[in-house]
Amino acid sequence: MCGIVAYVGPKDAAPILLEGLQRLEYRGYDSAGVVVSNKGLRMRKVKGRVADLAAVVPARFKGGLGIGHTRWATHGAPSDINAHPHLSGDERIAVVHNGIIENADELRAKLEADGAIFLSETDTEVLSHLIARTVKEADSLEEAVRTALKRVVGTYGIAVIDSERPGEVVVARNGSPIVLGIGEKEMFAASDVAALVRYTRQVVHLEDGEIAVLRADGFNTFASDARETAKETLTVDWEAGHYDTGGYEHYLLKEISEQPDTVARTLRGRLDDRFHIAHLGGLNMDARETRSFRRVKIIGCGSAYYSGQIGAQLIEELARIPADAEPASEFRYRSPVVEADTLYVAISQSGETYDTLAAVQELKRKGGRVLGIVNTVGSAIARECDGGVYLHAGPEVSVASTKAFTSTAVAFALLALHLGRVRDLSPADGRRICDGLRRLPDQIKEILALEPQIRELAGKYAESPSMMFVGRVRGYPVAREGAQKLKEISYVHAEAYPASELKHGPLALIGPDMPTVAIVPDDELLDKNLTTLGEIRARGGRVLMVGHRTTDPKLADDCVVVPKNETELDPILLSIPLQLFAYHAAVALERDVDKPRNLAKSVTVE
Ligand code: AGP
Repeated sequence: MCGIVAYVGPKDAAPILLEGLQRLEYRGYDSAGVVVSNKGLRMRKVKGRVADLAAVVPARFKGGLGIGHTRWATHGAPSDINAHPHLSGDERIAVVHNGIIENADELRAKLEADGAIFLSETDTEVLSHLIARTVKEADSLEEAVRTALKRVVGTYGIAVIDSERPGEVVVARNGSPIVLGIGEKEMFAASDVAALVRYTRQVVHLEDGEIAVLRADGFNTFASDARETAKETLTVDWEAGHYDTGGYEHYLLKEISEQPDTVARTLRGRLDDRFHIAHLGGLNMDARETRSFRRVKIIGCGSAYYSGQIGAQLIEELARIPADAEPASEFRYRSPVVEADTLYVAISQSGETYDTLAAVQELKRKGGRVLGIVNTVGSAIARECDGGVYLHAGPEVSVASTKAFTSTAVAFALLALHLGRVRDLSPADGRRICDGLRRLPDQIKEILALEPQIRELAGKYAESPSMMFVGRVRGYPVAREGAQKLKEISYVHAEAYPASELKHGPLALIGPDMPTVAIVPDDELLDKNLTTLGEIRARGGRVLMVGHRTTDPKLADDCVVVPKNETELDPILLSIPLQLFAYHAAVALERDVDKPRNLAKSVTVE
């Protein structure tokens, strides 16, 4: 969701904050603000993008202490006033906040009764007023923040400065990420390492309930009971260049185009030619435990959930263990039965999605064994899980997930191979899957070469008010992800259905205004799928078929033909034309491709 940056050190804070906010803008982008401390607090905040903020921050904004924020509105519409930072009435305290203060109304009423005057509609403003009250009696800003937070119910990542303590920033976390960056006689904090990598690779992740005090010469961290905590410093391997568009028009196209490489990175060092197995060192499970699971339950949100559906299919096919996927956001609320012989797998690109994190925490509370398939090293979900597989796909900046989606599916293929080879999967099938996985990067290059054809098709279909996506069994999660990509970045309404379900209802929607994208792999269901195409065409529906061969023009108006791999791995390749289709549809419709309306990259609120 929103992005936070904080700086304390010898340099001017404002340009560092603005640069950091630009890196975080993909997380939230409806308004932005900074405050710098220099003989009092100087603040600028605006509705709009970070570039709009940069245009109004004057060059005379000097001072080596400051905090900044880019917002994704929860309480109150995007506006200059609702933008963060929020100041206390006496303008002594400034706060930026990610998350949701659930008892904000109650606190606000009490503070108003006590004389506080609120300027914004946000939940955050209660924090600046609360801290302004506690700071007067506290020995330190950290103590004031800790005391104030005891009255707060909800989730937060916050950064706070006090104009009377110009050498320190206090940050705190509960359910919303905060990472510290250690520089040379300077300290940074942010909600995401993306804001830090230009300045440092040495980072420290805060845990829920922790508070940190940052000074130019270092930092201290404290638990909620004020006990000092010891922290491990991590070195991040993501570089500043990963956050550039690298000559592409959009991050999304860059990330789609990176997939031969990102898939290769997910596979690197993990395939064993001798025994045709997968080496997944991070699972932290011995062979006995690996054999003991009778069921696999996969959880994730949005595209992560759809990649989990591909994963469930792979695990059932290769390891012959019953497996299914469920949205983490639903799973956590329905009091699931947690079984000792079920292996739980949580998926998250960011590693910070609140619903997924909360589901993992619920599972752990009930004794579940949870693995994480995560892209961001050291993220909250990665730390919460018992073990897992990192994607190594590099940072994904565009709001729409693409390279993380394919890498997750590849990670599932590795996990399925691993589980299968300690059970029933034969060496011959193991070899077949290993060889198939190795072919993926080159086959993805072949699909990327189809871009001109897919661009033309996207232009042709993008004007439709609505589109249907269908697929059977392995093709169904591909259809769901294809529809998700199209709707989130082009705003064209898209429905995804199992092709087999079409005639049980949604066929009524089919007509000339509702074209269908049909996923038709060359598998044992080919004939069934072709029959479905005939049924659509008979109702005047146009069909764009994505599969392994062209077909009779009576059955499909257009065909995109992708290379064939092993049947189990085909969904990974079939997803890629749909990413390009959504991208070019969004470009044709002149959408803000990397920052689609109403969305944010990491959903760190409920
Ligand atoms: C995908 O294009 C999305 N924008 C969204 O569905 C995303 O996959 C979901 O919010 C989960 O994110 P995560 O992988 O970071 O947990």
